[in-house]
Amino acid sequence: MGKTKSKYVCQECGHEAQGWLGRCPGCGTWNSLIEEKSSSGSAQSNRGLWFGSDAAAKQNRIVPLAEISLEDKPRLNTGLAELDRVLGGGFVPGSLVLIGGDPGIGKSTLLLQALAAMSRQRKLLYVSGEESPRQIRLRATRLQVDQEPIEVLAATDFSTITETLIAQKPELAVIDSIQTVYVEELTSAPGSVSQIREAAAGLLRLAKTLDIVIVLVGHVTKEGSIAGPRVLEHMVDTVLYFEGDHQLTYRMLRAVKNRFGATDELGLFEMTDKGLLEVSNASMAMLNGRPLHVPGSAITCCIEGTRPMLIEIQALVQATVYGSPQRMTQGLDRNRVTMLLAVLEKHLRLGTGQIDTYVNVVGGLRISEPSVDLAIVAAIVSSFQNKAIRTSCLTFGEVGLTGEIRAVSQPDRRVQEAVRQGFKNFILPGSCRKAMLSLKLHESVNLYYVDRIGEVMDILLDEELSQ
Ligand code: TYD
Ligand code: MG
Repeated sequence: MGKTKSKYVCQECGHEAQGWLGRCPGCGTWNSLIEEKSSSGSAQSNRGLWFGSDAAAKQNRIVPLAEISLEDKPRLNTGLAELDRVLGGGFVPGSLVLIGGDPGIGKSTLLLQALAAMSRQRKLLYVSGEESPRQIRLRATRLQVDQEPIEVLAATDFSTITETLIAQKPELAVIDSIQTVYVEELTSAPGSVSQIREAAAGLLRLAKTLDIVIVLVGHVTKEGSIAGPRVLEHMVDTVLYFEGDHQLTYRMLRAVKNRFGATDELGLFEMTDKGLLEVSNASMAMLNGRPLHVPGSAITCCIEGTRPMLIEIQALVQATVYGSPQRMTQGLDRNRVTMLLAVLEKHLRLGTGQIDTYVNVVGGLRISEPSVDLAIVAAIVSSFQNKAIRTSCLTFGEVGLTGEIRAVSQPDRRVQEAVRQGFKNFILPGSCRKAMLSLKLHESVNLYYVDRIGEVMDILLDEELSQ
């Protein structure tokens, strides 16, 4: 054991300083620097363990780009179509994947189910530092997968984990969670930035040299970032976030970073008493049980990644009781809704300055696509006028500051999906007309093209379309 050195590490961004500072110069967070001691021998002494000697030789050899083998290694399909979709078609051998999310959202459940689905074809390892083997077995029993050949290691010690991985060489290993892994050479507590960074760096090298997939589970801190956060995100190949409202049953899996696929894909699951169920018909799930013939509800079609999905937007407006009007949103950008209210005020003289406005995406989804603008406007106007939008009517389009309705991508796919779900009347941007030409629609389907916000109002208030 060498001489111990002291340094101060920001627990938010990983910034290191020689002395204690009240405010981190890296990210500006107050009181986030914590003293961490490391012996000078430190974790470097372990590096020989992580790189086999021939692997080390390979690492040092310069290779012409054109000579690098492109031999396609098949991805590891997880057996869960929603997870595969978010990963871009399964796990890529030799990659390090981070799955983040709030405690209790279902990360361990998701991974145990994925392991169970793959376990008969592949050698896998589930490393848990959070739960005892008995607890894991109990969960597996509840998920009805306890007879699957899954191997479990309960360990938190980094060297035990790496030695087991080197000896066993599983095709995929899950480390649940990275915050519990403890590198003995570092004196700081498990879960601190130094520990997480060192452990993740070691596991990254291991994934690359052994050519295995390592999946790290990471808990999100209350500030909303994975603890030891940004230091991990740039290290790993793929970052997935598992999110959703604890009170609601739907859970969304999103890729935040993916070196092997798109990042806008969404995986949808439902948490049941038998674990997570995949939701393949997202539109049906999102519209299930929607109120009919009531003011304040509008349906739109978003495109999440490659999948069109119908969602319901609800709005409630009422006269302001207090001095300044309340504007609350769930699942939508509040500033966007405020902007739309200003557009309604300016171009429709709606008097939005005197009303409280609440706008909500049903199902706990978060939508950032601007195509949802027109549905927000429709829901607000519908609530304001106390008139319901006809149940077979759907609208999408971006609303500009001058009150113009702007085109959105892939209007034809949106309409197709909605027609499949039984919608017949569509209010959509006039500039989408050309994109719609190729679409063959049944004669009972009506398309209403709009260019200005005022026209939307006209159609919404049309006796035929409103109740
Ligand atoms: P878990 O996977 O332990 O969450 P994480 O690993 O992200 O901390 O999920 C725990 C939650 O999921 C807990 O609130 C109970 C719920 N759950 C079910 O509803 N049904 C089930 O079959 C299982 C296994 C868990
Ligand atoms: Mg867990």
